[in-house]
Amino acid sequence: MNLFDLHQEVAVVIGATGALGGALAEGLAAAGAKVAVLGRNRERGESCAKRIAEKNGHAQFFAADASDRAQLAAAHAQISASLGAPTILVNAAGGNDPKVTVTAENAFEKIAVEDWRANFDLNLIGGALLPCQEFGPAMCGRGRGSIINIASVSAHLPLSRVVAYSAAKAAVLNLTKFLAREWAGQGVRVNSITPGFFPAEQNRKLLFNDDGTPTARTKSIWGHTPMARFGEARELVGAAVFLASEKASSFVTGTDLCVDGGYLSQTI
Ligand SMILES: NC(=O)c1ccc[n+]([C@@H]2O[C@H](COP(=O)([O-])OP(=O)(O)OC[C@H]3O[C@@H](n4cnc5c(N)ncnc54)[C@H](OP(=O)(O)O)[C@@H]3O)[C@@H](O)[C@H]2O)c1
Repeated sequence: MNLFDLHQEVAVVIGATGALGGALAEGLAAAGAKVAVLGRNRERGESCAKRIAEKNGHAQFFAADASDRAQLAAAHAQISASLGAPTILVNAAGGNDPKVTVTAENAFEKIAVEDWRANFDLNLIGGALLPCQEFGPAMCGRGRGSIINIASVSAHLPLSRVVAYSAAKAAVLNLTKFLAREWAGQGVRVNSITPGFFPAEQNRKLLFNDDGTPTARTKSIWGHTPMARFGEARELVGAAVFLASEKASSFVTGTDLCVDGGYLSQTI
């Protein structure tokens, strides 16, 4: 028995138009899953599906805004008709926003409540809540499924400056545990992955100067990471395939798997 074989599975990867979601979509497809690449950006989504097809995987792009339940419902119906009923959901839409990042010019008390709301809409509501509401009950009805929410090291202890994002991701961790308990009896497992630091579009400005050299923040991150480097998106795949596979992780629910080079293992 191959513990990590996903040939029977249909995986919905939300945010697969991005760096980490794209790598997770490719990894789940390589393990055999049919993958619904779901996101707003058609060009990036179709390019992700094409990369998968070029490696003999099975993938299709579906356009939807994860913060809009009606669009998620429409995508759910299209995915079920084209690929089959989803059995895996990966929630990888999300990111920080300079508007809710504390700086000398943008003090904590000046951050507008509508910017907080927008960040919660992205990272908690669209990033986990609405997709779980849309896809989770259908999985429960069929008695099987695995949901993987992408959290962040800042969900555990807030990073300096990154205030709203950290609070929203902490809520994602909490929601993950709530749903794990709620749906365990119906065969649906709900877990999260905490990535450490992986260069992507949404955090590039914090990590690199315009000339490509590392910022002071990057040096501080590397100094705090026992492995002293950033992660590469492909290094998240093993964790996702493990959590997605019913055979590999049948008794694992409500857990958070850190893929962070040891970042959360030390204080100083
Ligand atoms: N990179 C890291 O170091 C790191 C660390 C910890 C956690 N994370 C988390 O990992 C996840 C992926 O981040 P990433 O680094 O890969 O960032 P990314 O490259 O910016 O990808 C995020 C993706 O989410 C999509 N998205 C945003 N809002 C959406 C919406 N409403 N509906 C559908 N899709 C939406 C974006 O596509 P469009 O805007 O084109 O729709 C984008 O492709 C995020 O949850 C992030 O918070 C990343």
